[in-house]
Amino acid sequence: MPTLRSATLSPAPAATPSPTAATTPRSAKRRLTPRRAADSADSAQFTAPHTSPLAGAGPMGTPKMLSASPKSSRKRLYGDLVAAEKPRWNPRDPAQMQAVKEALHVATVPSCGVVCRDDEQRRVLEFCKACVEQERAGSLYVCGCPGTGKTLSINKVKERVSRWADEMGLDTPDELSINCTNLGSTSDIFSKILAKFQVRKKASGKLSPLQQLQSMFSHKESAPRRMLLVVVDEMDYLITRDRAVLHDLFMLTTHQFSRCILIGIANAIDLADRFLPKLESLNCKPLVITFRAYSKDQISNIINHRLKALDYDVFEPLAIEFCARKVAAASGDMRKALGVCRSAVEVFESRLQDSSKQGFGVVTFDHMDTALSKVFKPVVVNSILCLPQHQQMVLCALANTFQHCKKKATTLGELNKSYIEICRSSQVPAVGMLEFSNMCMILSDQGYLKLGQSKEDKLRRVTLQIDISDITFAFKDSRFFQKCLEQPKF
Ligand SMILES: Nc1ncnc2c1ncn2[C@@H]1O[C@H](COP(=O)(O)OP(=O)(O)O)[C@@H](O)[C@H]1O
Ligand SMILES: [Mg+2]
Repeated sequence: MPTLRSATLSPAPAATPSPTAATTPRSAKRRLTPRRAADSADSAQFTAPHTSPLAGAGPMGTPKMLSASPKSSRKRLYGDLVAAEKPRWNPRDPAQMQAVKEALHVATVPSCGVVCRDDEQRRVLEFCKACVEQERAGSLYVCGCPGTGKTLSINKVKERVSRWADEMGLDTPDELSINCTNLGSTSDIFSKILAKFQVRKKASGKLSPLQQLQSMFSHKESAPRRMLLVVVDEMDYLITRDRAVLHDLFMLTTHQFSRCILIGIANAIDLADRFLPKLESLNCKPLVITFRAYSKDQISNIINHRLKALDYDVFEPLAIEFCARKVAAASGDMRKALGVCRSAVEVFESRLQDSSKQGFGVVTFDHMDTALSKVFKPVVVNSILCLPQHQQMVLCALANTFQHCKKKATTLGELNKSYIEICRSSQVPAVGMLEFSNMCMILSDQGYLKLGQSKEDKLRRVTLQIDISDITFAFKDSRFFQKCLEQPKF
């Protein structure tokens, strides 16, 4: 498996500038554009030279650290003057391609640190420091939509707490990370916490793990010496009808001799509203920190920072901006943004394989556009894909009728003929006329088509209420429907 170093140092035909790319207006524009949108003053702290060893050699999907080479750190010191000499990316070099995909992989821990989450991290860190310093238990509730950097930020803070306690000569807290998606049952959370406290002690058979923890934290003699920093991720999975597990969990931090510093992370924003009032009444309201969805600028900033680990430009700046704009408008989910960027690289890669051009190029706006359209399908496209097969065939028949005749309306009888034709060509038995009209009525109720008010069934007027392009788009990846759909005649 290639490492990032091998990728950046591999003999690069890329060093030879491509004559086409060097003279196109686009590449000229690229050189004139400020090199990185993310080169803002507030991110300077993340550009310090990295000291961690390069470790990009794991299989894809396992967390890895991306490290910038000393060369790239030097470049940052010399600014734009040196940046102009940035070697060109050679996408035909498998090691370089692999390094790009790794930089954009969701499982890759970015070596640049966590940009755009300074305030949230600072607040979590302060909370932890106060607990460790005063040796008191406490609880924190982190919430935000998926992909807003909660897990990444809290993991980074966890590392910083240990380092800080060490430097201060304080007892470093023990650490426990639990992902609730891995629990067999919700109450297993208590046995996991208990196991961490009782590494050597024998568990008492009579009491449940929760009761043992409660009793342990209620008496000075039985209270453990070291603090335990417990990070409970994907806490949404702990929601039971009465929310008892959640309440019991947070209540553990209120016992007089509790040693738990609890950080709960949840995706459901409204979980706080649902369970905080009860916790407040139980006098154990946690500190709440909300991670807001990423904005367009934050998404571009994060992507650019992740790509800084590479020695070459991979994307046209406009392509990243386009992705950031779309994702921010939809959800602000960084996981989605990274997925779209990777998909754009794959689109670029496959077009590169099909082309005999010598130039190398970068991932452009067009590649990003294709990648985005794969991810952000219109709602109607998704709903077409969820329809039963015969109803999809009726829509297919409608698309064929209107594409072929350039008409705006047809009759139920004509549509039925087109539907039977599709059934015949795809060797699927057609339903009878009565069932066919029923299907059309269902499609009409759902807003795909409109049925006219004729008493004579076969003469009922049928008009399409959605775009033909939505039907063809929905079926573009289906071999079955690709055969059924007639190609438009120009
Ligand atoms: N501020 C950031 N800087 C760099 N990468 C980020 C940042 N925020 C999120 N990511 C990346 O986005 C993906 C989702 O982040 P994650 O922390 O798992 O989100 P959440 O826990 O909120 O669902 C991860 O691959 C993570 O590395
Ligand atoms: Mg998470």
